[in-house]
Parts: sequence; C-alpha cells; structure tokens
Amino acid sequence: MITVRVPATTANLGPGFDCMGIALQLYNEVRIEEIDKGLEINIVDDSKLFLPRDESNYVYTAMERVFRKAGRRVKGLRLELNSNIPVTRGLGSSSASIISGLVGANALIGNPLGVEELLSLACEIEGHPDNVAPALLGGFVVSVQEGRRVHYSKNRVNKHLKFGAMIPNFYLQTKKSRGVLPRYTSYKNAVFNVGHASMLASGFINGDISAIAAGMKDRLHQAYRLPYIKGGELVMRSAHRHGAIGSYVSGAGPTIMSVLAGDSTRFERGMGLLVQNRLNNWKLKMLEVDNHGVTVSVD
Ligand code: HSE
Repeated sequence: MITVRVPATTANLGPGFDCMGIALQLYNEVRIEEIDKGLEINIVDDSKLFLPRDESNYVYTAMERVFRKAGRRVKGLRLELNSNIPVTRGLGSSSASIISGLVGANALIGNPLGVEELLSLACEIEGHPDNVAPALLGGFVVSVQEGRRVHYSKNRVNKHLKFGAMIPNFYLQTKKSRGVLPRYTSYKNAVFNVGHASMLASGFINGDISAIAAGMKDRLHQAYRLPYIKGGELVMRSAHRHGAIGSYVSGAGPTIMSVLAGDSTRFERGMGLLVQNRLNNWKLKMLEVDNHGVTVSVD
C-alpha cells in the first residue's frame, strides 16, 4: 500500500500571477493499492458528494498519464481519497489531486520519472505551475514555463510567518475567474507587477517583513476578481486593520489570504468575529507553511 500526502497551496500571492505559490500545512491523503482488475475509488470525506469515483477522477487521470509516459500498465487499482483541502476555493485542491496521482503512480511502478518530468506533466494537466510546483516541492516556489520545460526555484519560508485563510461558503471556478480577466493590460501595470512581485519574492526569501508588505500589491488580476467575491474587499480591509502585513486573493479565489508575522492573536480574534458575525458562513483557518511538499510512504 502506498500513501501519498500532499499539501494545500496558495498561488499568486498578489502580484505573482501564475508564477508564485506557497505550500501550507493542510493535506489531502491518497492510499493506493494495486488489485487484480478494475478501478475502485473510495472517497471518505464530504467531497464524495460531488467528486467522481470513476476514470474521470482527477487523481486517477493523473496516474494514467504517468503509466502512459513510462510505458507501464497495472492490472487494477484501489484508491482511497481523504481530502481536507476545500474544493474550488483557491487553495490548490485540483493541484493536490494531480500531484498525488502523479507521485503515487510513479511510486507504484518504481519511480521511473524524476521531479522535472513530474512537474512538466503536472503543468500540462493544470496549465500553469504556481500551485502544482509548491504542492510537489513545498515552501515558496517561483516557477515559469517555457514550452514543456518548467523552471523552478524553491525557497524555505520562515516559520514565524503564518497564513490566515478566510474561506467563503461559495465556489469560484478557476475557468470563470480566469474568464473575467482582460486580454491586454498597460505597460504601466506590467511594470508595477514586475516590481512588486520581485519585492515580494525577495521578502519571502529573506524573511523581510517590510518587503513582503510593500510587495503584496497587484494590478493584473485581483481588481477583476474581487467583484465576484462578495465580502472580499471588506475582508481585505479588515485584515489590514487587525494586523495582517498583507492580503490577497488566493489563487483564482474566492478565498482571501492574509500573511501574519509573529503573534497573530489580535488578527485571529478580530477576523474570527468578522467572519462569524458579518459574513454569511465564511470560515477563518490559520495555516502554517509546509516546507517539505508531497510525501510518500509504503507499507
Ligand atoms: N494562477 C492561477 C490563477 C491560480 O490565478 O488563475 C489558479 O489556478
């Protein structure tokens, strides 16, 4: 039996659209066993109400890609999926499924594919590297795609940084959230985001709080997405008042993520009350960074 544990991820971090992400300590687990024939998928959490349990399941389709690429076949498969990452909320649940499928299938057939090949396959499926790269590698990852090749730079994140995820009770599909973005932007906006993304990366790499605070601003996607996140602007403003050093739309949304340095009691109390009293069923989840990425165990 192979068990794969894969972290949630938060992408974009404001200005790092499609190229920056951080892994967080919230996990999906997949148990994989080869059986004589067929496909059995057992989902043990609430996502069983809407996730498919046949060949169209994302974990399985990712596994198939590895078997095809490696030219190998298995007789049959039994999968048990236990997911803690909320689906379609901007916390990397589809990337977690892809990475667990790729890494689990690779382990099942003796690890013929290396990290580069797995990452390249993951990007082919997902379309961009910013969630799949930290799900695989952990930490803060900057990644860019050139054709099929993915360049990445992984950095450990200072453990004093915490992430406050404000998770709405509604979905925002990535396809819809990408569909509202304009086709073109100005040179000025491009320059703004290059500068801020670079400042932010430097802040995360060096644990420089003021660089993170200065860099966490965006002009490429958030303004177009926030109108589809009812309560999102209020959450971002309040988070700042309660001590967050920066806030952003996590991935394609709708989760709003805040970064905290040091003692986060004031933030937890203030934002906890806000999501409970003024927003309809949002949840606040405090998360720490996962600096390791996906893990595999065999028993
Ligand atoms: N970078 C992606 C986006 C993340 O913002 O659309 C969601 O997959």
